[in-house]
Amino acid sequence: MPIISVASPKGGCGKTTTSITLACELARKGLSVVIVDADPLMWSYKWGELDGRPANIQVIGGVKAEDVAVVAMDAAERVDFVIVDSEGTGNLATANAVGASDLVIIPVQGSAMDGEAGVLTLAMVASEGRKARRVIPAAVVLTRTRHIETRAVKALRERYQELNVQLMHTSIAERAAFNALTDFGGDLVDLPKTEMGSNPMGAMQNAAEFAEEVLEIVQAIMPDYKMEVA
Ligand SMILES: Nc1ncnc2c1ncn2[C@@H]1O[C@H](COP(=O)(O)OP(=O)(O)O)[C@@H](O)[C@H]1O
Ligand SMILES: [Mg+2]
Repeated sequence: MPIISVASPKGGCGKTTTSITLACELARKGLSVVIVDADPLMWSYKWGELDGRPANIQVIGGVKAEDVAVVAMDAAERVDFVIVDSEGTGNLATANAVGASDLVIIPVQGSAMDGEAGVLTLAMVASEGRKARRVIPAAVVLTRTRHIETRAVKALRERYQELNVQLMHTSIAERAAFNALTDFGGDLVDLPKTEMGSNPMGAMQNAAEFAEEVLEIVQAIMPDYKMEVA
């Protein structure tokens, strides 16, 4: 049902990691998920081709830019959640995905430059919303955060507060387990212990909290949508 786009012009900020992590958390709750991979490099799709992809996650790759919205909307007719993992924001595929989305999640790493990329993405979302004559909800998630909050992240928080940006309470921390996902495939919980880093439970708890907050946001913007969460 809901379509969530994960978008940012910044390569490496964690769009694919966020998309896969969210998909796995939702799948473990018994929800069916389609990931539409709108990135020509197809990292989500490649993850889906590895062993261990949960049975209730399907990844559609090789989608042409002009088809992204239609593919996402078709998928939304038959599954509980559609997640569009995209390449950047300055391209047609992402704009089309955003235009069809119920929510846009913008991963932002903690630096001034990344913060500006987030602001540009929000402007793009607003512009797609104006074209569609509706407000497209968007939320920023801080990614690859350190245990101790850096000055750059503090400055970002202040800037976003001034701009009235919806910043998620949950950040996605820098963790070996998240980094291992696209190499090993499958869900975080299936990773070999050697790949889980020094705090194996840390990434899992983080992923669960992130998904919970996404569900809260979705429930707030789509109050009539009933989720059959296990
Ligand atoms: N929270 C994280 N902790 C550790 N590594 C991460 C995290 N998020 C992303 N990475 C790693 O950074 C690289 C880029 O992340 P990715 O999700 O592919 O970004 P994007 O899709 O925005 O280009 C990948 O190698 C990924 O494993
Ligand atoms: Mg990616």
